[in-house]
Amino acid sequence: MDLYEKAASASNFLQKIIHSEISYGIVAGTGLSGLADDIENPIEIPYDDIPHFPKPTVEGHVGKMVYGKIGNHYVLVLRGRFHYYEGYSMQEVTFPIRVLKALAVKRLIITNATGLLNPDFDAGHLVFVEDHINLFPENPLRGLNDERLGLRFPALSDVYNQKMLRDAHAIALGLKIKSHRGTYVGLQGPSLETPAEYKYLRSIGGDVVGMSTVPEVIVAAQCELPVLCISVCTNNPYKDGAKTTIEEVLEVANIAGEKIRKIIGKLLLQ
Ligand code: HPA
Repeated sequence: MDLYEKAASASNFLQKIIHSEISYGIVAGTGLSGLADDIENPIEIPYDDIPHFPKPTVEGHVGKMVYGKIGNHYVLVLRGRFHYYEGYSMQEVTFPIRVLKALAVKRLIITNATGLLNPDFDAGHLVFVEDHINLFPENPLRGLNDERLGLRFPALSDVYNQKMLRDAHAIALGLKIKSHRGTYVGLQGPSLETPAEYKYLRSIGGDVVGMSTVPEVIVAAQCELPVLCISVCTNNPYKDGAKTTIEEVLEVANIAGEKIRKIIGKLLLQ
């Protein structure tokens, strides 16, 4: 079975459970799975049940989709994403995006945890991503192109949807949530950056840095899914004695996750 057929098969399985049009696919990043808690009458679908879905690398770490309504829209929240650093292939990392497209989801909201690079930002702030710099060693579209999956040479000039970004940013400002626009630098991890690397990533134009999102956004561009991406700045590498720990990342992401919930809650009333 090729990739297109695998995504179609996963989508056919999900269509037996999901009976409405889905307006938004939402990828819940590290520490941000609380986003699914706002869904009315949620239906949970473990990744394990979905044909061809990648298997979790961490035992007992449940990935699942949560389907239902937020505000005026049906959504499908992906709790748990597949990171390249876990050893997944780029095709596996981006498989959920292919499945969302096969389900005819209209728009994608991606969230993630990041280290800040722009010294005007602070831990806990949100960043609406308007551009990215891809430093992953591999592109998810490498290889023979299957035209059923989308374009061979997708443009990335407007993959971050300006209207969704403006609307979401306006909501954040209205709620007095500290937020910015910025450029996300994506690299493979899982080791964090050295002080010299943070400086370098800033000097090439990055505002935040993380280990996900870019492959998903490239695939979204290929299949022409508009994207809104919201990053949480979880750690400030310029702080005296800064040493990033996963505990710090999770703690800050959890708190900021509440802010993202409020923004998405209002956005989905539109
Ligand atoms: N670097 C890369 N990825 C990250 C960071 C960071 O500092 N914080 C959270 N994800």
